[in-house]
Amino acid sequence: MTEPTVLATFATPSLVAPDHQPAPSSNPLRLGLLASGSGSNVEVIAQAIASGQLNAQIQVVIYNNPTAKVAERAERLGLAKLLLNHREFASRAALDQAIVAALKAHQADWVIMAGWMRIVTQDLIDAFPRRILNIHPSLLPSFPGANAVEQALKSGVKITGCTVHYVELAVDSGPIIIQAAVPILPNDTSEALHQRIQVQEHRIFPLAIALAAQSDAAIYGE
Ligand code: GRF
Repeated sequence: MTEPTVLATFATPSLVAPDHQPAPSSNPLRLGLLASGSGSNVEVIAQAIASGQLNAQIQVVIYNNPTAKVAERAERLGLAKLLLNHREFASRAALDQAIVAALKAHQADWVIMAGWMRIVTQDLIDAFPRRILNIHPSLLPSFPGANAVEQALKSGVKITGCTVHYVELAVDSGPIIIQAAVPILPNDTSEALHQRIQVQEHRIFPLAIALAAQSDAAIYGE
């Protein structure tokens, strides 16, 4: 199988060095990660930081589900973690207000939704303008929302993939940063397809964070 196509919407030669090394003079990005599931994307972001591919540090991993595997992963990786169980909040806005307070307390400047399965509110969006990214397992705008992999399989499309995008209020909307395409194979299952999509998620997420940060710095200054 050939390598999937990676489309970068605003990459310019000056934004990404050929080996994706960050500019040595820039300050590390301070990331607040939000996760609900296994946390494989959290782990690849941590690895990209450790290997020098991404000039950043993880300030905190916030998770909303007490049994989420991401908690063990964060522990193993030595990352600060915080459970904010959505069931204990009266509303989506109340949860987001607590998230904002925790992110600020941990001095996060960027919010990275790495498998965050909650609908966000204006409270979170307003607290981090242009600095919230999400990853979604389809080629948006196709198949937004839950069960994106199953939706793609059922629809009969032959190519799906994953998208990293800025977060806006509408679910899985917002300007696209990078997409990677993944072919759907005959007799594919949603598990097998999701696994291949995740391989691509792990490639593009650290790169998308670097691209967004460099674009932000170029436009707004550090
Ligand atoms: C990913 O497929 C992501 O696109 C979706 O949730 C999944 C999270 O995976 N939003 P993981 O927890 O990072 O392994």
